[in-house]
Amino acid sequence: MRATVLGMAFSVTSALLAGSATAEDAGVGAALYGEWCAACHGASGLGDGDMAGVMTIPSPNLTLLAQNNDGVFPMLDVIHIVDGRTGVRAHGGMMPVFGRVFSSADEANPYGSVLEARGRVLSLAMYLESIQK
Ligand code: HEC
Repeated sequence: MRATVLGMAFSVTSALLAGSATAEDAGVGAALYGEWCAACHGASGLGDGDMAGVMTIPSPNLTLLAQNNDGVFPMLDVIHIVDGRTGVRAHGGMMPVFGRVFSSADEANPYGSVLEARGRVLSLAMYLESIQK
């Protein structure tokens, strides 16, 4: 119980810290995007990556997330889709569950690894927010 509360305190803190460094995080997110997402979603997020051609499910255009949501970027939905909590078809199967990919397995420092994963997912979400049309 205590560990859970502590974990929640950590995640709130990390969200606040990340929130105060927007520009820097978008840069980190851009690099992560190029490495992990562009293959399917395309270099500019238009859904035209090299892998898109061999996928049976089209890779969505990620610059239209706000437009498709009444003009509001769906930050929490995006975070949950990227960390794997929302089981979109391609993210559970062909697309790795990035919440796990981004957390380095470091048993000596379990919170550090969770924080690192959350920070990366958040950076990615902020980058996606920055490329909305
Ligand atoms: C192997 C190809 C592939 C990779 C790599 C990939 N995606 Fe996806 N992604 C998809 C496909 C296909 C869908 C549509 C899934 C569905 O309809 O079930 C999708 C859906 C999404 C959605 C939801 C879009 C919407 O319109 O609702 C988001 C957000 C997203 N991906 C972000 C990312 C991010 C961020 C990364 C990198 C960390 C990434 N994806 C990596 C193929 C991929």
